[in-house]
Amino acid sequence: METNAEPDYIYRSSYTELGWHVSETMLDVAVFDAHADVTITLDVRAVSSEQKTLKLFGENIDLKEILVDGDVLPATGYELNGAELSIFNLPQACRLSISSRCNPYTNTALEGLYASGDMLCTQCEPEGFRRIAFYPDRPDVMSVFTTRIEADKSFPQLLSNGNLTETGEAGEERHYAIWHDPHPKPSYLFALVAGDLECVADQFITASGRQVDLHIYVEHGNGHLTSHAMESLKASMKWDEDVYGLEYDLDLFQIVAVSHFNMGAMENKGLNIFNSKFVLADAHTATDDDLARVESIIAHEYFHNWTGNRVTCRDWFQLTLKEGLTVFRDQCFSADMHDAGVKRAEDIKMLRTIQFSEDASPTAHPIRPERYAEINNFYTPTIYEKGAEVIRMMHTVLGPDAYRQGIDTYFARHDGQAVTCDDFISALDAVSADDIGAFSVWYQQAGTPHLHITRPRPGILRLRQSLPETKANTSTHPMPVPVRLAFITQDGNEALFSLDGGQEATEHLVMLTTSEQEISYHSDTDDLTQATPSYLRHFSAPVRLYDDLTLDEIAHLCCFDTDKVNRGEAFQKLYHKALTENGHDEVESALNSAVQTLLADSSVSDEFKAMCLEFPSQSELEQSAHPVNPIWLFQRRLGLAQTLGNACATWISSFVQASDNQQNSGSRALLQKALFLGVQAGLEDVIAQAGVLADHDNMTVSMAALRALNMTNHPERAAALERFGHRWSEDKLVMEKWFALHASSPYLNGTDGLSELMCHPQYDPKNPNKIRSVLGSFVAANVMHFHNETGAGYAFIAEQLAGLDKQNPQIAARLALGLTRFSQYHPERQALMCKALHTLHAQNLSKDLNEVVSAGLNQS
Ligand code: TRP
Ligand code: ZN
Repeated sequence: METNAEPDYIYRSSYTELGWHVSETMLDVAVFDAHADVTITLDVRAVSSEQKTLKLFGENIDLKEILVDGDVLPATGYELNGAELSIFNLPQACRLSISSRCNPYTNTALEGLYASGDMLCTQCEPEGFRRIAFYPDRPDVMSVFTTRIEADKSFPQLLSNGNLTETGEAGEERHYAIWHDPHPKPSYLFALVAGDLECVADQFITASGRQVDLHIYVEHGNGHLTSHAMESLKASMKWDEDVYGLEYDLDLFQIVAVSHFNMGAMENKGLNIFNSKFVLADAHTATDDDLARVESIIAHEYFHNWTGNRVTCRDWFQLTLKEGLTVFRDQCFSADMHDAGVKRAEDIKMLRTIQFSEDASPTAHPIRPERYAEINNFYTPTIYEKGAEVIRMMHTVLGPDAYRQGIDTYFARHDGQAVTCDDFISALDAVSADDIGAFSVWYQQAGTPHLHITRPRPGILRLRQSLPETKANTSTHPMPVPVRLAFITQDGNEALFSLDGGQEATEHLVMLTTSEQEISYHSDTDDLTQATPSYLRHFSAPVRLYDDLTLDEIAHLCCFDTDKVNRGEAFQKLYHKALTENGHDEVESALNSAVQTLLADSSVSDEFKAMCLEFPSQSELEQSAHPVNPIWLFQRRLGLAQTLGNACATWISSFVQASDNQQNSGSRALLQKALFLGVQAGLEDVIAQAGVLADHDNMTVSMAALRALNMTNHPERAAALERFGHRWSEDKLVMEKWFALHASSPYLNGTDGLSELMCHPQYDPKNPNKIRSVLGSFVAANVMHFHNETGAGYAFIAEQLAGLDKQNPQIAARLALGLTRFSQYHPERQALMCKALHTLHAQNLSKDLNEVVSAGLNQS
């Protein structure tokens, strides 16, 4: 009775060229009250004389007319088959003109041309352009675009890519604008906006002295919330010049903030479109983490101008070519703007939380997948975050100078082209004697490698790697694994040592290239028998590390590791032991004393202390036990907070009351930890102070208090949430925080509580941010209620998904992932989650949701 067949897959191996060049694309979009009329004119030329048929895509648009060199093409000249339009017997070179109509106002999928509030905007990546016009909508077709937009004057701003070349009247009450983008680009980078917007303008002078106008467009009244975004943009432009020697290549760079947006932001050439939550932010409305996120997303999209736009992807299997590289670039940018060690620790945590769990899930895939049913499902932590880790490893092996030469080679070879991951690797490989080519195996194999490091005999290290099987069923060959290594002496210094008789240094990079390798270490200077090894420093490879460190050695690294990242990692190891191993008295006392020592250490920053106080996430913990009860782990995690809170009660009380605990982002981060631990420990003075701080006008402080209170059923929780809801009731973005707090609380009134949130006047069922803040937070963070033993949480989500899928398949498919991640759970829970998936599978699903649900059901 199930209606969904096995998804139709597209394979990486079946790539073929289009066979046509499209030198010029002229797009004419006329916006009316209930539709838009589009005429697209293409100058096409066949690659060979055998080539006579041109295949175009068009989805959810009505075909009106086709002209070939000015003559109407009769119905016999083409065939429209679903989303594919074939045009037959075309001359070798001709001008093709196709008219069609679409309706932006009924477009709830938020792909193609759609309405968000009072404005119209577009989202074309990856395959949205075909919802605007018939086109060879694939990234290897690059063309010079000229766009004419015509609309009512109630849309004063008519924006597109490139430079504005002409504006004028178009009859009564209507006007037009013409934009020309001189850089050839694929259709996925096209963008158009029509709206009544406030423009905040600034300028940037490039290294070579060119002036670039910077425009940020927002809804009227929001201009004052753009300074952080503008400063971030200028800092990104400067950084790309300084670090990569890359200048911006147009005279205008525009950002438009829209409230209905499926993801974070989009790098359309010269006209980035952003989810408004990643533009509009100041210290009153956004937390320090939010502000850092805005900065990194602005940087990410800006950096795409070179890594993505100037050099783009040949096909969507190469997505990590631009995304992995651009994430790596934005990570390095943020590290340079802030504390590099803390930034790295955050990136590692994110990788473990969302990517390692993806590797262990039914939707596991290599960073360059072999097949997909719906490409929208492949904008994943694997493509993005693991992709960035793979580039980071190559960077580690090459060192900054050779890496930069390799990147220069990449641009010298491929500027203006649509290329593959192999092209990228080979450019890096060309500059160095290191075997960078060997890293290509990281592109082929899914799964998180296990790295075991032991000291089988004094003076010998044994490194062993293995790759667990995943649902992607890719090969499991050994991969090149760079392992940064040091020894920390008893008095806390880096020992001098040599490997296999080489030069002495305080740190070495070991390249593990086989499944097992032994290496000898020796020191003429220091006593290594008394020193503690610091393995995989800076997290030099995205692996699961299994090491032989004793509890005392871990405790030693908590105090003394000179690599901040690894010092933080030592704390993570203690938390893991305390949370997942039995008989943890010894561990708990080691942890207590490590934390006490840390808090008393005046040589490290508050920000670093806060980082060390961050527990492993629920998802990280679930990965280390099997079978696991998520509810038990959740409670155990809160229990550890209670224990630590009690052990540090004196420090917590005094820090929470201190007058200088809010002065900078570091102290605020530590305040957040102190509040969380103190509230969990039930310290009355801390709870009372949290109630006060919840009303603070700095959003970081306010949210720190609310998040701490949100995990208790103390009456102050409900009271503080209610005051916050009142205070911000008119602010759509801040209310998303309020929704998320409710939806993630263990004290939510179950699924009834969710239904109530969805009836709130500020809830907008068509807005992805709102859906994520309620349903997304529930699935990702409300362990107690999503995983409720009765299965009520799963059933509720399945029911919501069925409705959501009709409206916005992308968002539905993403939310559904939470129902498929059950391989670590007990059979009874697996059955409940499967049941929810089955109810979905019995309905008519979108390609997006069907791919996820099918993968979920096929795993068992
Ligand atoms: N290319 C975008 C980025 O990573 C992401 C993206 C892909 C996207 N598809 C999208 C953004 C759809 C918004 C909507 O920067
Ligand atoms: Zn990106």
